Amino acid sequence: MLEDLKNSIDFFIRNKTKFSRKNFVEKDEKKLLYNYLENLYTYDILEQCIKKMPADSAKILDIGSKNWFYAKGEYHFFKSFNKNICLNGVELDAHRLYSNFYSRYETAKFYIKKLKNTNYISGNLLSIKNTYNYIIWFLPFVTIEPLRYWGLPEKYFMPEKLLSHAISVLKDGGQMLIVNQGHKEALAQKQLLEDLNIKYTEKGIVKSTFLEYKNDRYAFVIKK
Ligand SMILES: C[S@@+](CC[C@H](N)C(=O)[O-])C[C@H]1O[C@@H](n2cnc3c(N)ncnc32)[C@H](O)[C@@H]1O
Repeated sequence: MLEDLKNSIDFFIRNKTKFSRKNFVEKDEKKLLYNYLENLYTYDILEQCIKKMPADSAKILDIGSKNWFYAKGEYHFFKSFNKNICLNGVELDAHRLYSNFYSRYETAKFYIKKLKNTNYISGNLLSIKNTYNYIIWFLPFVTIEPLRYWGLPEKYFMPEKLLSHAISVLKDGGQMLIVNQGHKEALAQKQLLEDLNIKYTEKGIVKSTFLEYKNDRYAFVIKK
C-alpha cells in the first residue's frame, strides 16, 4: 500500500511538472550500436509475425512506447510495403526522468527525429480514439508486479480494459501483434485473450539473430 502511495505521488508530480532537460542527443557510440541492433531485432520480429498487406497508406499504433528506442525498426518495416505511413506511439508515463535528467518524452524525440509522420503521444491508450491498420504492443503489463516495479500507480493495472480498447481501435482487416516476456506473462496474456473471446494465433517463442534478451519472448497475433 505504501509503495502504491509513493508511486502515485511520484507519477502525479512528474506529470504536473513535466520537468526535463531539452534536446536529447545520444552520442555514446556503444549505445548507438546497441540501439541499431534493437531496431534490427524489432524489424525482424515484425517480419516474422505480421502478414504484409501492401497499401497506399497505413496507420500504425505502438502501445506503451517508453522512450521509443525501437521506433526506427517499426517505421522501416511498415514503410517497406506501404507508400505512406502514419506511425503513432502512445505512452502513459512519458515524463519519467532518466538519471541524465532527460525524460522519456525528450529521449523519444531523438529516436523519431528523422521519421516522417511519426508522433509520440504522451497519454493513456484509453484516450486513443483513431483507428489503426496495425497495432504493436511490446511487453504489456498482464500481471501486477512488473507494473508496480515500473513505478506506476496500481489504478493503471487494467489489462482487460486496455486490451478491449486496443481491439476497438484496430480497423477491420487489421493486425495486432502482442509480445510478452517470460512464460508466466505469456500464459497470463493467453488467458486474457481467451477471457475476452479474442481469436488469436500463437507464435510461441520468437527469436532474432540480432539480439537475445534474458527472458524468452512470446508472440500473439490478432487479425480483425
Ligand atoms: C514493460 S514497458 C514496455 C516498454 C516498451 N514497449 C518496450 O518494449 O521496451 C510497458 C510500457 O507501457 C506503458 N503503459 C502502461 N499502461 C499504459 C496505458 N494505459 N497507456 C499507454 N501506455 C501504458 C508503461 O508506462 C510502460 O512504458
